Amino acid sequence: TPILITSTEELRTALTGAGEIGFVPTMGYLHEGHATLIRRARQDHPGGRVVVSVFINPMQFGPSEDLSRYPRNLEGDLQVAGQAGADIVFHPNAAQMYPEGFSTRVSVSGVSEPLDGAARPGHFTGVTTVVLKLLNMVRPDRAYFGEKDWQQLAVVRRMVTDLNVPVQVVGVPTVRDPSGLALSSRNSYLSDEQKARAAVLARALRAVQAAFAAGERHTQALQQAGLDILAADSEVTLDYLSVVNSHLQETELVSPDPLNRVLVAARMFGVRLIDNLPLDQG
Ligand code: PAJ
Repeated sequence: TPILITSTEELRTALTGAGEIGFVPTMGYLHEGHATLIRRARQDHPGGRVVVSVFINPMQFGPSEDLSRYPRNLEGDLQVAGQAGADIVFHPNAAQMYPEGFSTRVSVSGVSEPLDGAARPGHFTGVTTVVLKLLNMVRPDRAYFGEKDWQQLAVVRRMVTDLNVPVQVVGVPTVRDPSGLALSSRNSYLSDEQKARAAVLARALRAVQAAFAAGERHTQALQQAGLDILAADSEVTLDYLSVVNSHLQETELVSPDPLNRVLVAARMFGVRLIDNLPLDQG
């Protein structure tokens, strides 16, 4: 099992002279998606240290979002993190991260504005502020982020480039259950039956991929292929389904770029779910 560290001072002591550091920031309630990031960090740092942070960041939740009911299980997280090869679980408290007088925000424009940025005002500012703080505390050589949160990955990459943060950002493909549903801590809000139903989101994304593979290049028509699948399910309250380029922008026609992506966000059974796939399945 990994060492549990709760203060920045202890963290610095544990990491000084420890070799290269791989870092996986999380909000806990770790699942196989997180474990995959941790295993990747372990592989990339055989002689160094792998740090996993577990911090439910209040700044990235809107006033009507699920902060108070967000799932937590530190014991389970230590198990999963240790099993996947983590050396250290860093678990700071909110008072340490945001002490009295805390006044700074890190905010990325452009890529953080459409899609989830529009649906969740302030969300990405909360993410970039906490991620930069965590990077400054851990000072890793590499930091691992899931493609599951594609826009988050793009926003973090932009911040790291713009602010010359000395870290290599590594994106890791989305881990899914056999139904296609992307693993997420928020899936714990759903029953098995509801999870099976939520796989419709992945099916809609695959329908868009299929339309692209069949030669469709009009964004509208590609999106319609996904919307048709979602419209057939009365449980889906759609937020967006969008075909975008690497800047997270919709264009009328899609150009050949492996970074083109189809993203979906919808509410099902009172839970907001997101997912995405590359447009070109390769
Ligand atoms: P959280 O939702 O806990 O996710 C932590 C990391 O795990 C993120 O990089 C996310 O993309 C990745 N992840 C989640 N589910 C995944 C899956 N099914 N497959 C692959 N990777 C997956 O994202 C956050 O926390 C927070 O916003 C954070 C970056 C920690 C800042 O607070």
